[in-house]
Order: sequence, then structure tokens, then C-alpha cells
Amino acid sequence: MSIDSRSKTTIFVIFGGTGDLNSRKLAPALYNLFLDNWLPENFSIIGTGRTKYTEDDYRNTLLKDINEFSRSGEADPAKWQEFANHLHYQVSDLNKIETYQEFGQRIKTHQEDWQTTATVIFYLAVSPNFFEVIAQNIAACKLAEDADNTRIVIEKPFGKDLDSATALNKLLGGLFEEKQIYRIDHYLGKETVQNILAFRFANSLFEPTWNRNYIEYVQISVTERLGVEDRGDYYEGSGALRDMVQNHILQLLCLIAMEPPVTFVGEEVRNRKVDVLRAMRPFSSEDVRKNAARGQYGEGWIEGKQVPAYRNETKVDPQSNTETFAAIKFFVDNWRWQNVPFYVRTGKRMHEAASVITIQFKDVPHLIFPGEATDNWQQNRLIISIQPEMSIRLQVQAKRPGLDMVLNTVDMVFDYKSAYTSYTPEAYETLLLDTIVGDQTLFMRGDQVEAAWSLIMPILSAWESKKSVNFPNYSSDSWGPEIAEALIARDGFHWVTLPQNNKKK
Ligand code: BG6
Repeated sequence: MSIDSRSKTTIFVIFGGTGDLNSRKLAPALYNLFLDNWLPENFSIIGTGRTKYTEDDYRNTLLKDINEFSRSGEADPAKWQEFANHLHYQVSDLNKIETYQEFGQRIKTHQEDWQTTATVIFYLAVSPNFFEVIAQNIAACKLAEDADNTRIVIEKPFGKDLDSATALNKLLGGLFEEKQIYRIDHYLGKETVQNILAFRFANSLFEPTWNRNYIEYVQISVTERLGVEDRGDYYEGSGALRDMVQNHILQLLCLIAMEPPVTFVGEEVRNRKVDVLRAMRPFSSEDVRKNAARGQYGEGWIEGKQVPAYRNETKVDPQSNTETFAAIKFFVDNWRWQNVPFYVRTGKRMHEAASVITIQFKDVPHLIFPGEATDNWQQNRLIISIQPEMSIRLQVQAKRPGLDMVLNTVDMVFDYKSAYTSYTPEAYETLLLDTIVGDQTLFMRGDQVEAAWSLIMPILSAWESKKSVNFPNYSSDSWGPEIAEALIARDGFHWVTLPQNNKKK
């Protein structure tokens, strides 16, 4: 599908223009889009923040960020200068209406200079405490009246529970049209995640087996080496369930479990995904006890360095009840997936950084080979590795070469590194480009967010109301708490890791 972004004169207003997200992700992504000729000739990026930068100070700060974080390495001076001409900065107090009037004036001036209507993208890369005041002031100053040409991008977390997410949807829905609201889940912008749709719906091979008749279970494991770093204050109010499961992991689950959309357009894809969330089996308190396990990391050693327990991290309560690990068994109650377990787990400070989806197929109906041939028997598995390894492997049984009949597991591998030489764009490049052209396929719709919150609310409430007595219950550099092993072992399975994956993050 060719993307016509060059003709879309665009103004970005970045709230949180001096923040971490802008430094690490947004500014490098915009710069790379510029380098690769995706940005239109006329575009402007207006960063905003409380810091009293001059425009030159701001440009210099972003240059440092880009040199440090861009996938394309240090900026070329001539290219940078060209890009920097599009960068502006406005010192702003987000609570004051004058701030927004000034944006209005700047937007007007740009449009007059360019003699055209621009697409205006208000990007809220700020703490959620500011979502309401920003949205209300944008609307009060009539900056988003033109629903076809103005968009509001909202970073996560979108609410901290079902009630707050519903209230935020209601507020935004009262001020803007749904087609203007872009709720980001950066996992959806990842190349390997987008490829799940291609893999499932561009190949006829898998569809006949993609159901309860052939699939024994699905596993989604997103593990990280990092701890909470300097985000203790945010994470204390969040935990693994809110931070990873409600959004990224459930989105991955939807992509695996969704029915084929009729066409590859935003609403179609989003409808099929929300169907999955609605079909997911609600949790009773008994289910929470049986099918959900939580953990919190203790101290340990990572790559030769001693790392603190979560409770000793900065801005974390020394008695914290916040989970840094979650493992849950879900079911999707529909014809395709009845009684197929979906095991998900995520955790910080784990032994390996890897986001991997495993689909285990049922065993052969009848084994014709003698026992000694099948010592290393393993059912077929499809392993979709999202990061850091980007690959898809189909594990099958094969005859080991030799005169005797001995079977073992071999991998048929599609590996991005060997299949493609082109670069892989960062998730934010994809998502920013989509906001320019107005494609919401990879963004969360309001009802999707609420359905995901509804599903996890019983777990959230149970964990919050009942303090865990054994935190910390896993040490840094481990595979998480034993209860997570038990959760899956009860069904006769175990958590799958990628073969020979030693990459660490
Ligand atoms: C963010 C979470 O949404 O995703 C972080 O807030 C987490 O806690 C991060 O580390 C993981 O993203 P990625 O792209 O590094 O897998």
C-alpha cells in the first residue's frame, strides 16, 4: 500500500516536548521520517514545555537526543540543519488558555505562509494528569474544529482502571470525534507485530489449522531485563498488569485470536480485535486465585552488576505491593478458540529480554514410530519472536540423518536479518506516519480500551485489595516466581523460550 504523506502539510504540536518520550522516541522518529523523505515539504514541529529554552537551545537539545537515540546514528550536519529549520519551541503553562491561543496564532501564521490548510497533530506526550486540561483548552480555543484535519494523539496510560478510562473516553468523545483520537499502543507499530496480520491473512497455509481443532495452547511471553529504572513513582501506581497486560499483551493476543477482517482498513481490523476482547472469559475471584500469578523482583546480579530489589528502587515504597511480574491464563469463548488456553506472562528483571508468541499444535493422532525413534519428540510449534530476535520459526519433527530411524525437532526459520537487508523502522516512525495520513488501524479505539480494562479489573481489584505476603518472590535474573511455573505446569505445559537466544537488553 503506498502511503501518500508527502502531500500532507503538517504541524505537530508536541506537549511534553522536553520530556523523555520526545527525547528518546518522538524526535528521533520524526528525524528519521524526514531523512527517508516521508515528511511533506511544508511541516513544522512545535515543542512545548515549561523549561525556558530559546528556539536554538531547544534545537541543540534535540540534536543531542537524536545523536544518542536515533537508529540512524549521529545526525549529518547538513541534513540536521535542514530539519532544524522546521523545529520551534514555545514555553508554555498548560493550565493557561493563553498558551493555546498562542498555538492557534502559530498555526494560523504557518498556514498563511504556506497558503494551505495543514493537518494539525496535537501529541500529548505528558503525564495523564494533563490530558483533561489540554483537551479542554484545545477545544475551548477551537483548535480542533476541523475534524478531518486535526488529530489528538494520546500516550498510555489511558486511564488507570475501567472507570477512569471510561471517563477519559467520555471527555474526549465530548470534545472531538473518534476519528480524531489516536490512542497509542507502541507495540502495534512494531514491524514484527504488524507482520502477524500479514502472516495470518496473506498465507492460506495456516488458516485451516488456526483453531481449537489443531491448536493446543497459545503463549505470549514478554520479558525484560530492565528493572523500573527511574520510573518508580509511575510504576508504583501501575504494576505489570496495567503497564503491560492491559495494553501491549492483550493487543498481541487480539492479533493472534481475531477473525479475518473483510478488508485491511482501520475499522474492520479494529472491529475484529474488539470481538476478541468481548469474547474473553471474565474472571471470577476463584479464577483470579487459580489462573493469575503475580510476582515482584528481589535483588540479584545482572551481567556482573548487583541490582536492587524492586522495594529498594528509587521512589518505591519499601513495603510495596506492586507486581513487577504477572502470569495469567485466559480463554476466548468463541467457536474458534473454545477451551484453548492463552497463557501470558510479563516481568521485569527477568533472565532474558524477549517478546515471544508460541503456538503449540496438538499432537499427531497416532504415533507410528517406535519409542526409541521418538525420544526427543515435541509437538509442532510456531514461534513468533517479536524482539530482540525478529523471526518466525516453525518447529517440526524430522528424521536425523543416519541408518537408523531417529526423529528430532528442527526449525524452519524466517529470520528478518537474513531475509531482508533493508532497515527496520522504529514503531514510532510507523505510528507518526499513520497520524499524518490519518490511518487509525494501528491505534486503539475507545471501546477496545474499555473492553481490555473490563477484562483485567477483577484481577486488578483482587491484587490491590489483598497484599501479597511473599513479595519479593523472584530474584533478579530469574524466570519469575515459582507460582507462574506451577500455573502452566498444572496443565502439563511449560513456558517456552527461544532456542539459542542469548541476547540481553
Ligand atoms: C512501556 C512500559 O509501555 O513498554 C515499560 O511502560 C516497558 O515499562 C515498555 O518497559 C516495553 O517496551 P519495549 O518496546 O521496550 O518492549
